[in-house]
Amino acid sequence: MSARDAGSARGAGGATAGSSESPDVVVCPGGPLLLRGDHVVQDEDGSAHRTTRPVSAVCRCGKSATKPWCDGTHKVIPEKLRP
Ligand code: FES
Repeated sequence: MSARDAGSARGAGGATAGSSESPDVVVCPGGPLLLRGDHVVQDEDGSAHRTTRPVSAVCRCGKSATKPWCDGTHKVIPEKLRP
């Protein structure tokens, strides 16, 4: 399952909090979103970025030099300003 169809599947009885099923999207506290598997991510300019890596990290802090991907910059910004 991809992030694109996660909303509909989850709403129709998919995984819930505390489920033992492996999620394909994980929110890292203060850091990126981790995507498991193939995805197409649309950036703020509307450009599509395909990833086929086993795990990809999408920047949530807005400071990455390689957006939409996380480059680790979130680690150097003050904790209270992280996502
Ligand atoms: S979340 Fe890692 S650089 Fe933005």
